[in-house]
Amino acid sequence: MTFAKRRWRNGFITLLAGAALVAWYSAYDVALYQASFLTGWLLLGAVLILALYNGRKKFSMLPMGTAATWLQVHIYLGLLAVLIFALHIDWQMPNGILDSVLALFFVTAAGSGMFGLYISRRYARMLTRRSEEVVLERIPQFIAALRQEAEAVVLASATETGSSTIADFYGNKLSAYFSGPRNTWLHVRGSRRASFALTTELKTMTRYLNEQEMLHADRLIALVERKDQLDYVYALQSLLKAWLFVHIPTTYGLIALALLHLLLVYSFGGAV
Ligand code: HEM
Repeated sequence: MTFAKRRWRNGFITLLAGAALVAWYSAYDVALYQASFLTGWLLLGAVLILALYNGRKKFSMLPMGTAATWLQVHIYLGLLAVLIFALHIDWQMPNGILDSVLALFFVTAAGSGMFGLYISRRYARMLTRRSEEVVLERIPQFIAALRQEAEAVVLASATETGSSTIADFYGNKLSAYFSGPRNTWLHVRGSRRASFALTTELKTMTRYLNEQEMLHADRLIALVERKDQLDYVYALQSLLKAWLFVHIPTTYGLIALALLHLLLVYSFGGAV
């Protein structure tokens, strides 16, 4: 099945489930039952199933369906949970402190999930278009190697040509650039402003070079471009990892707060 077809099918099923849910909720409400008990239990069930996705990853050797199926169920159940949540809080901001914090955890968990889904699709495309595959953890090592190469070029240019133009430029503009990953925020936003500005400055500097110096400058420009590629991959892959550091802890916080909320509702809320 193609990606588009799968999206249509799953989107349609979710829409039907959402409509059924709203109808059930309205019937419950009309019958003067407290519909928030219905939506509350449904929401807790949905959140627990969503959280199981973390456990599923840890026990990937057990035959529990493919990872792709779990992700699909997770995404569409996650969207449905947003509707159940909206019904549960009656489309209004909660009042008490615990309820407000609980709502904030839900919004953060669901919001980070949507954000994560968006960037995993978008960045996967961007990364295949603009770079080769590099493992995130090894990027600082590659950058250090590029820095050594760049310093060797600068040294060779100074000793072979007797001119300090390239070395001065390196000291002023490039030594900080080569000392680690740079321009992360610009790269995650898809902006090439920083690398464009640096390339322009490099080109301006080369106007004053003689032919012999130009050979070294060209090697330096190639290293700057290679470094820019690594910065780009580093930025995108870092964000692809970082969002899970919001998504997973808020999930567990959400479950803990939801259980406390449940306890308080059944102790003081007057369940019907
Ligand atoms: C409050 C509701 C939600 C909870 C409790 C929740 C919980 C989780 C958990 C526990 C994981 C496993 C993370 C891991 O172990 O790597 C996960 C992954 C994920 N969630 Fe959610 N999630 C929620 C809503 C959503 C929503 C609404 C979306 C998107 C529409 C979403 C998209 C994702 C994606 C894309 C992954 C990572 C898939 C991967 O890279 O393997 N989540 N979520």
